[in-house]
Amino acid sequence: MTMRRVDDIPLSELKGKHILVRSDFNVPIVNGEVADLFRVEQGWKTVQYLSEHGAKVIIISHIGRDPQESLEPVARAIKKIGRVVFIADLTGPATRGAVYAMREGEILLLENLRHDSREAENDESFAKELASLADIYVDDAFAAAHRAHASIVGVAKFIPSYAGFLMCHEIQEIDSARAPVHPSFAILGGAKFETKAPLIKLLLEKYDHVFITGALSNDVFRARGLSVGRSLVSKELPSEDIISHPHFLAPIDVTVESSDGHARVKKPNEILTDERMVDIGPDTVAMLAPHIAEANFILWNGPTGIYEEGYDSYTEQIAQLATKTQTKVVIGGGDTIAAIANVDLSNNPNIFLSTGGGAMMEYLLKGNLPGIEALK
Ligand code: 3PG
Repeated sequence: MTMRRVDDIPLSELKGKHILVRSDFNVPIVNGEVADLFRVEQGWKTVQYLSEHGAKVIIISHIGRDPQESLEPVARAIKKIGRVVFIADLTGPATRGAVYAMREGEILLLENLRHDSREAENDESFAKELASLADIYVDDAFAAAHRAHASIVGVAKFIPSYAGFLMCHEIQEIDSARAPVHPSFAILGGAKFETKAPLIKLLLEKYDHVFITGALSNDVFRARGLSVGRSLVSKELPSEDIISHPHFLAPIDVTVESSDGHARVKKPNEILTDERMVDIGPDTVAMLAPHIAEANFILWNGPTGIYEEGYDSYTEQIAQLATKTQTKVVIGGGDTIAAIANVDLSNNPNIFLSTGGGAMMEYLLKGNLPGIEALK
């Protein structure tokens, strides 16, 4: 059975209906304020569409790692793009009263779903309580679709369910990354090789070249018998079939930082015991440039360096190279998007920024997610 889309609902059926929208408004909060509204902006199209057609829209989302974190700063930040009323409650009397009193087109944002421990437990009674707030459920939270939580897989059992615009767009773009047109080029960074190995193997099969970067490349050097000094390393080393695969590429030079904080560019076999790798180097960018220029499809997840510590210049250079092509580029992961925040991507319509991090990786690997399955 295929998934129904939000625009499959006849417009006449939207007016006056309560619609529960599961969004992923899990955005970074710094000093009590939203630091980046990207996910909210991407998800707002569905909310706005429903509101403009007279629906009473109830948005639900999670936020942060601490289940006690609040979505209230998100409601304040949304004022820049739309109108929303924040309700500091989930399925209790405050929400029920507010839902009852809603007018057509009005938008509510409820509290962090994870305030209720039944959310992460995928508790059926919680899913039922959420479903009882509305006539229709729309899931637009692609970035959380890898979590089998009550608001993601439970609600659709009780009321008619549809996929939102962002969910549909993400699936379409990442489906194209699962069957890339050739020549194709993938860049994968991050850490924890053991968790990425299955995806790397799949990418090596499907892509003409796969460049492994970030902390993952430290593991590659270790597997090649090189010393990596104080660099971050994974529990497991990459297997021989990965690092000797003909499609496999790793950095040919690296930026290292010594214990006095001084950074310099070196060859991977020159790293000293007090040094740690913090980024790739200029020769590696030069090696990648023709692959980026020639590719007909590029997939990119993970910065090349520790951008949080200011090592973002090579990640930015790669983004600049990508903006100059006519190639379809799918970029994902909050870290990658944060690391290239200063690069103007707006005049290249071929670049798609996914809101998904873990969800994107899992969908690339499996071609399905619990939250997508629940809508079928
Ligand atoms: C994410 O940021 O990847 C999603 O919002 C899922 O969040 P989680 O890892 O806290 O479930």
